[in-house]
Amino acid sequence: MRPVALAVVTLLSACSSVPPAAGVPDSDTDTSTGSSGGDSTSEGGHALCDGGPWQSGQPIAVPELPVGDPAAGYEALLTEDYVSCGIPWELFGFAEDVLGVEEPLPGRTGKNAEVGHAWNVVTLEDGSELVVSNCLQCHAGYFDGELIVGLGKASADFTTSLSDFAEPLPDLPETSDANAAFNKFKARAAALGPYSTMLTIGANPAVMFAIILLSHRDPVTLAWSDEPRYELSTELVIPADPPPWWRVGKKASNFANGMSRRDHRGTMVLASSLCTDSVEEAGPVVDYFADIQAYLASLEAPRYPFAIDEALAADGAEIFECNCAGCHGTYAADPAAETYPNLLIPLDVIGTDPSFATLSAEGGFYHHLKDWFNESFYGMFSEVVTDDPTPGYTAPPLDGIWATAPYFHNGSVPSIALVLDSTARPSTWRRLDYDSTHFDEAALGWPWEPAMAWSEAPASERKFIYDTTAFGYGNGGHTFGDHLDDAERLALLEYLKTL
Ligand code: HEC
Ligand code: HEC
Repeated sequence: MRPVALAVVTLLSACSSVPPAAGVPDSDTDTSTGSSGGDSTSEGGHALCDGGPWQSGQPIAVPELPVGDPAAGYEALLTEDYVSCGIPWELFGFAEDVLGVEEPLPGRTGKNAEVGHAWNVVTLEDGSELVVSNCLQCHAGYFDGELIVGLGKASADFTTSLSDFAEPLPDLPETSDANAAFNKFKARAAALGPYSTMLTIGANPAVMFAIILLSHRDPVTLAWSDEPRYELSTELVIPADPPPWWRVGKKASNFANGMSRRDHRGTMVLASSLCTDSVEEAGPVVDYFADIQAYLASLEAPRYPFAIDEALAADGAEIFECNCAGCHGTYAADPAAETYPNLLIPLDVIGTDPSFATLSAEGGFYHHLKDWFNESFYGMFSEVVTDDPTPGYTAPPLDGIWATAPYFHNGSVPSIALVLDSTARPSTWRRLDYDSTHFDEAALGWPWEPAMAWSEAPASERKFIYDTTAFGYGNGGHTFGDHLDDAERLALLEYLKTL
């Protein structure tokens, strides 16, 4: 959600909205390219090299999912009001004046072709029109200047409390359904605000959003109450990094700690349940999320757009087989020949920032999410599992991994070169800029520079600084590349470009 949207309404008068300039070059929703031909190290029955840390991994069973129609899912994603409150169409032009105009998505029709890609325009029962946010607020990002649906939005800015925007705004007279939906939107943003403010641009509060919203809802009826059911805290806001959607087809679980098990419709719907206050409203949404789930599972990673040294990549493939494949799987030109073990790696083995996994586990504050969810309406479809058999993080598929900086579940590491050498990671860093055409082909990630400590920086500079000493922002662990020499790491990086 883009908080600034709310602020503009103070400026409102009833003008019609100015459509954003289109002018998007062709194909940027490229989800059709297959994973490209990495050497298949598993073909021919090679055994993985002897033992390794993957032996501590706990396999997660692949669930049976409901049948869904990917094309219908894509359509639903970009037309439906699964977020059922928002901004009246008449006021949206002012929102865009302040927000900046987001790039629209080619191929959309009607008013949806006139709004940025992260918004849907819906017609309510009384005929009034409402602009609601969609999943692309966090799940469409830029690589090399191209907007890619499903790539995590690494530049979303949640560093200002949503309540700072929402609280000063007047309620609209409830003369239309859209105006009423705006008032609800404003009130919900105010409830989220104080507990979901991030330190750094790109750090994403989605998990915290869920925990806050559920604290206000009855699990069975979904009815909203202003008093939270459990006490919220501003101390426990930790960052997440939206993962690319094209992994979903391989993954048995969702979320960094593998907590969404079985059919994931319930947990996905939650991601947007800002305003869904009854089972009557939620039921049909869960139904069409079977299609959205099928759409996500149909996505494939884009292809590396720059040069690849094939001989070097072939060397890297061998290093990958013995050091990485045990956790991250094997890759091949033919997707049917690929393998993926779906392992949950215990915290003491992976060693990355433990806060998310431990907070979510028994005894941690985020455990409220599990307790609420499994007894809720949504728990009939999906299940949240946080400690079975142990808290940890899943080793993700590495398809298109070069496109998805920053790395680790909290986005604490700016390049893959640094993922492979834990000793070289900066304790505080900032991106040189937010231009996605500035890409470091050697390190596979963003150009960055060291920064001063967040707490010592001037207030206006803070949001650009990723400070790994903050709670939940740690960049340690995953030391599996540390023993390699520079030449081996170079080869491995080249190989990762082929995935
Ligand atoms: C406010 C930002 C935000 C919005 C809006 C959002 N997501 Fe997410 N999403 C995230 C973040 C952050 C994660 C990673 C959470 C984690 O791993 O702990 C995530 C994770 C996911 C995952 C799991 C992927 C994986 O590999 O584990 C799926 C699937 C997903 N989101 C689907 C959706 C859908 C569908 C919607 C719209 C209904 C949506 N999200 C809306 C931020 C968002
Ligand atoms: C013991 C299992 C294991 C081994 C071995 C392993 N990884 Fe990982 N890897 C993980 C886990 C688990 C994560 C997620 C950690 C997190 O997000 O906190 C991860 C994360 C990553 C990421 C970042 C993914 C992202 O989206 O942020 C990259 C890149 C990566 N690994 C590459 C490698 C390479 C290359 C090797 C071989 C040198 C390797 N890994 C070896 C388990 C492993």
